[in-house]
Amino acid sequence: PSADRGAFRGRTAFIFAAIGSAVGLGNIWRFPAVAYDNGGGAFILPYLVALLTAGIPLLFLDYAIGHRWRGSAPAAWRRFKRWTEFIGWWQVLITLIIALYYALILAWALNYTVFSLDQRWDSHPKGAAGFFGEYTQALEGADVDISFDYVPTVLISMLIVWVAVIVVMALGVQKGIAGASTIFIPLLVIMFVILVIRSLFLPGAFDGLDAFFRPNWGALLNPSVWIAAYGQIFFSLSVAFGIMLTYSSYLKKKTDLTGSGLVVGFANSSFEILAGIGVFSALGFMAQAQGVRVDEVVSAGIGLAFIAFPTIISEAPAGALIGVLFFGSLILAGFTSLISIVEVVIAAVQDKFGLGRVSSTLWVCVPIAVVSTVLFSTTMGLPLLDVMDKWVNEYGIVAAALVSSLIVAYVVRGMPTLRDHLNFRGTFHIGRWWYACVAIIAPLVLAFSLVGGTIQLVTSGETYSGYPVWFNFVFGWLMAIGLLVIAIVLSAIPWPAGSNLHK
Ligand code: PHE
Ligand code: NA
Repeated sequence: PSADRGAFRGRTAFIFAAIGSAVGLGNIWRFPAVAYDNGGGAFILPYLVALLTAGIPLLFLDYAIGHRWRGSAPAAWRRFKRWTEFIGWWQVLITLIIALYYALILAWALNYTVFSLDQRWDSHPKGAAGFFGEYTQALEGADVDISFDYVPTVLISMLIVWVAVIVVMALGVQKGIAGASTIFIPLLVIMFVILVIRSLFLPGAFDGLDAFFRPNWGALLNPSVWIAAYGQIFFSLSVAFGIMLTYSSYLKKKTDLTGSGLVVGFANSSFEILAGIGVFSALGFMAQAQGVRVDEVVSAGIGLAFIAFPTIISEAPAGALIGVLFFGSLILAGFTSLISIVEVVIAAVQDKFGLGRVSSTLWVCVPIAVVSTVLFSTTMGLPLLDVMDKWVNEYGIVAAALVSSLIVAYVVRGMPTLRDHLNFRGTFHIGRWWYACVAIIAPLVLAFSLVGGTIQLVTSGETYSGYPVWFNFVFGWLMAIGLLVIAIVLSAIPWPAGSNLHK
């Protein structure tokens, strides 16, 4: 007899888990910089258009497949149409790779929270030299090589992160995933609101906000601004990763999917705007403290969190509080995303072999934790993360989203069935516009960014981030293409008699 797959107790548990997955590092460090670079206040227009024409429609598609076909990504796609099973494995492998490096960012945030608590912040890493040199000891540019030189501080945090993930995942869908999200998400909102209020009262905060919100309407004529808006929405809502598909398979049959989707979509976007306000107030303070213009202190991604914020913390009054709130928020937001990523893999293994919760958790998490810790707690961890993230996003998620929307819309022609399914219990009625979004708008934008990104990469004349050619080839191209090939192979392997497939 195959084991119970687990379930969410109700709609609220599901919504918290789904918001937990959506609200992540993308909200806190990606959105503010993307919006600033792409028209500031004017970015709100392409952003909302992207949310309504692609983000929420694709979110509905994920929900519909997972809920209608009730299974992990490979099981649900297989039930949908036998030969589409490879999409499910592709999603599983993509999330597996993300899990490996996502944990590293959490480990950094854990270390920096502890540094912030220490009153002698001056003895801790600050600025670019502090982060890249002193703290991560990262190999850079042409010096990047295979290295198993461990960074002890990072190593310890990595182990803590993975132990926490294993404990939560072993507790199961309701107690573990929904339980953690139901506690962490409200806590995150409280901490972040305090952080925003504190930042608004820093001197210079309004210059930061002015730089952030000042609209550059001319940017709207630039197609790359629109691509950036769609890219941000896809990443931020975690659509087409198999995550929302997996979560919705744990919902009771009679559930309002569309109403839930709207709550998740708008909650995620609200948190992004809030993050923009908090981050730019703090950057405004930093600019004033250093006597420079705001645009000189704006940096994206890793730089924002681990280079700009340490400086802000060391210069602001009550900086320790700001540090704990900021890095603590990163931990909470990142953790609830990491567990959603890992769940895609666990659910697939559980379905395939009909395993119980604890054994599937251990079979999946222990190897991932070991590989993640062994590879990423080293001086090559950061460049490895950089390359894998670039290719997994551009050639994994974007390609998978494109392939799956085209297959559903044109090959299997499954949209009407899925729409009926969504409308059966949904409080928000889906009209025929949904077909246009999933079958035309989303694939067009995805194809554009795939092609545009490749042209940029190939014609730039430099290797990505200046790393050696072989490094980007192995951990970028080979990894990304390898995932698809392995996925196709996996989809050809028969399901054992004890699997969850025929339950
Ligand atoms: N949606 C998350 C964010 O905004 C990122 C994420 C990506 C989460 C992939 C899970 C999986 O940060
Ligand atoms: Na998000």
